[in-house]
Amino acid sequence: MRIRAAVLESFGDPLAVQDVELAAPGPGEVLVRLLACGVCHTDLYTASGADPSGYAPAVLGHEGCGVVGDVGEGVVSVTPGDHVVTLFSPQCGECIHCRSPKTNLCLAIREQQNKGYLPDGTARLSRDGEPIRHFMGTSTFAEATVMPEIALAKISPDAPPEMACLFACGLSTGLGAAMYTAKVEAGSTCVVFGAGLVGLGAVAGARLQGAERILCVDLSEERLELARGQGATDTLIASGDTVERILEMTGGFGADYTFEATGNVNVMRQAVESARMGWGLCTVAGVAGKGETLDIVPRLLITGRRVAGSSFGGVKGREQVPQLVDKWLAGDIDVEPLVSRTIGLDDVNHAFELMEAQDGIRSVIRF
Ligand SMILES: NC(=O)c1ccc[n+]([C@@H]2O[C@H](COP(=O)([O-])OP(=O)(O)OC[C@H]3O[C@@H](n4cnc5c(N)ncnc54)[C@H](O)[C@@H]3O)[C@@H](O)[C@H]2O)c1
Ligand SMILES: [Zn+2]
Ligand SMILES: [Zn+2]
Repeated sequence: MRIRAAVLESFGDPLAVQDVELAAPGPGEVLVRLLACGVCHTDLYTASGADPSGYAPAVLGHEGCGVVGDVGEGVVSVTPGDHVVTLFSPQCGECIHCRSPKTNLCLAIREQQNKGYLPDGTARLSRDGEPIRHFMGTSTFAEATVMPEIALAKISPDAPPEMACLFACGLSTGLGAAMYTAKVEAGSTCVVFGAGLVGLGAVAGARLQGAERILCVDLSEERLELARGQGATDTLIASGDTVERILEMTGGFGADYTFEATGNVNVMRQAVESARMGWGLCTVAGVAGKGETLDIVPRLLITGRRVAGSSFGGVKGREQVPQLVDKWLAGDIDVEPLVSRTIGLDDVNHAFELMEAQDGIRSVIRF
């Protein structure tokens, strides 16, 4: 079939919205008609050429929500008409990582996905017979996409797609960092660095876990206002003495749990230093630039602080994304303020500009 899609032709250039061919789903694959898709930093990071593992031409996009169209041979867990959230982090349920409760990093299709292909090593996207690669196994800046069954989370059809799509990446990453990676305990004190979609999700996740105090740090007062809306009890504008101020606000010890959601390695260090001695756990969700390293004084570790990384919030997608969506539908998570604007696919480059200007939390494409 012919579909409209936003293609990364070459790094550093604007995406080119155009008609491309999408082949029918093969065995174990599903055709998804996109309803909405958020525009995330990782799309921009790849489009800019900053990501050394990027490839082109490719159809970008990974924060998608849609409805199942055709299904390939052997597909049993979704049927046409089902509403789904796309997962760049799949859940096969069978690999050694899927069988462990300790990680969400499914091993099933990693190798081909990282190269931009479906699990059989080929692409369903093409133009004039030339293959176009699938970004993050999702390619959701398109009217339709073909994805592995194991990379789709079936969600309630009652969930408005322009908000549900945020659960495909940023929002679940933040929520999960607090709920599944850190497993915040009730009554605890948390600090969240960064109040973008990931940080705001972490604030909401800490609140859902019953944290007593949630401090949020950002450069923008407007974003801190959103953090209070998600449950932050204290907010502070970042400055040279952020760590000292946090220690002061936490009886000199620091917080039980800290979260980093900026991607800045200096902030990651602050997040480690703001975790309390004895048991403070720092969870890093931000993605640092190529070659950057995190500097930690080892004494901080010897005296009981711990550091954890979190990919997609530790969320086991097929199982837990539907649960998070249900929590939102039950009124426990306020998603509406996180969608700053809805746009058409043709405006995807404008969404990148707004993101670079830190204007709004998320732009969402409606199809
Ligand atoms: N681990 C994952 O699976 C995963 C998934 C999605 C995004 N990410 C990463 O998470 C990070 C956050 O993503 P986002 O969409 O929320 O980004 P964002 O740019 O919307 O938010 C980042 C926030 O950090 C704030 N900030 C910048 N410098 C700061 C400082 N010195 N102190 C405090 N706050 C500061 C900014 O004002 C902004 O509000 C990015 O690095 C992104 O790549 C990771
Ligand atoms: Zn993302
Ligand atoms: Zn697996």
